[in-house]
Amino acid sequence: MKIKKQEKKLIVPDCVTVPFIEGDGIGQEIMPVCRNIINYAVEKAYQGKRRIEWKEVLAGEKAFKTTGNWLPDETLAIFREYLIGLKGPLTTPVGGGIRSLNVALRQTLDLYVCLRPVRWFRGVASPLKEPQKVNMVIFRENTEDIYAGIEWQQGTPEAQKLLNFLKNEMKVTQIRFEKTSSFGIKPVSVEGTERLVRAAIEYALENHLPNVTLVHKGNIMKFTEGGFKRWGYELAEREFSKELKEGKLIVNDVIADAFLQNTLLTPENYSVIATLNLNGDYISDQLAAMVGGIGIAPGANINYKTGHAIFEATHGTAPDIVGRNSANPSSLILSSVMMLEYIGWKEAAGLITNAIEEAFIHGKATYDLARFMPEGKALGTMQFAETVMTIIENSPVS
Ligand code: NAI
Repeated sequence: MKIKKQEKKLIVPDCVTVPFIEGDGIGQEIMPVCRNIINYAVEKAYQGKRRIEWKEVLAGEKAFKTTGNWLPDETLAIFREYLIGLKGPLTTPVGGGIRSLNVALRQTLDLYVCLRPVRWFRGVASPLKEPQKVNMVIFRENTEDIYAGIEWQQGTPEAQKLLNFLKNEMKVTQIRFEKTSSFGIKPVSVEGTERLVRAAIEYALENHLPNVTLVHKGNIMKFTEGGFKRWGYELAEREFSKELKEGKLIVNDVIADAFLQNTLLTPENYSVIATLNLNGDYISDQLAAMVGGIGIAPGANINYKTGHAIFEATHGTAPDIVGRNSANPSSLILSSVMMLEYIGWKEAAGLITNAIEEAFIHGKATYDLARFMPEGKALGTMQFAETVMTIIENSPVS
């Protein structure tokens, strides 16, 4: 059964069909255990009243081998129809046609928010003295900025044409090495900024979080990143003035480099972060590293207007450890937890999050995390998943 979006609400049936892309490389190891854990937690939480029906769709190497296409139209059509989906890591095809499958998926469904919650789990080794103070949710703009892929390579006729235009028509004089420069364009719009900042503020209000911080480099890039800051504040004043006046929320801003320092020194000052595409990329990885690294960082790409959302492991296909039963499935599992929260199945989500933390507290984790834990016992992917399921079995539903 399909999820529907009516007005601002998702209408979720008790039996939800979730399309999934297994993923390449370790995707084949982590996706099956992840789906087992989700099924198990949903069964435990709702005793058969709710369940997920999984529907495999193809993308990446598996799709290329079977259909000759890295991202078949049918896959996109199914995600469009069913609104939500789960995705394992995908190989980025080298050369030819498609730049990145992940980018293609985001652009086609206009998934304008890259959502990355960052929190510390007890038991996980961290380079910080007080990692328990880290609890942030990053809203990274996903469709604009220098990441839009509008660029021309040095030495091509197109680069020369753009250079001529900039010099002759726009009277640009600051290009230091004309002949050997590549060029990129950085579009940042009012609409793109507003929908991202609106989503961040609505999320903060719904989850009773104290502040939304706009992170930017507007001191240098005045019209693009400076625009992001200005339009963000204007949107907040225009659409949320009541909440701001009542003290339900504070909207503030910080320059990106200062922000990266502050997250190490005073992470407790930040809760929801709204930022542009490139800043968001750096910030997501730094914050993930502060609480355990890419093996456990979950993520989702969402269009809050249409309801479309793809939940995904944030790491790649890890070709160096494929087939060794040592991949950490936590990033994918915690992304699935985000999916359960998104559709309102909070009891099942809570069971899984608590079970993963309980395992970490006892030093039970895959090698990438266990090696840094004082009492760490490295488990294989399957054994870690079994441990999590046993904890779920013995946990109360809350
Ligand atoms: P990667 O994330 O696959 O691996 C980087 C390092 O982290 C490796 O040492 C790997 O063993 C380790 N690692 C990653 N995930 C892990 C896990 N779950 N458990 C334990 N260790 C883990 O990045 P890399 O090597 O740069 O990329 C490999 C392929 O994946 C490329 O084709 C790349 O384009 C693609 N990729 C796909 C992404 C996606 O689908 N979202 C994201 C990043 C890369």
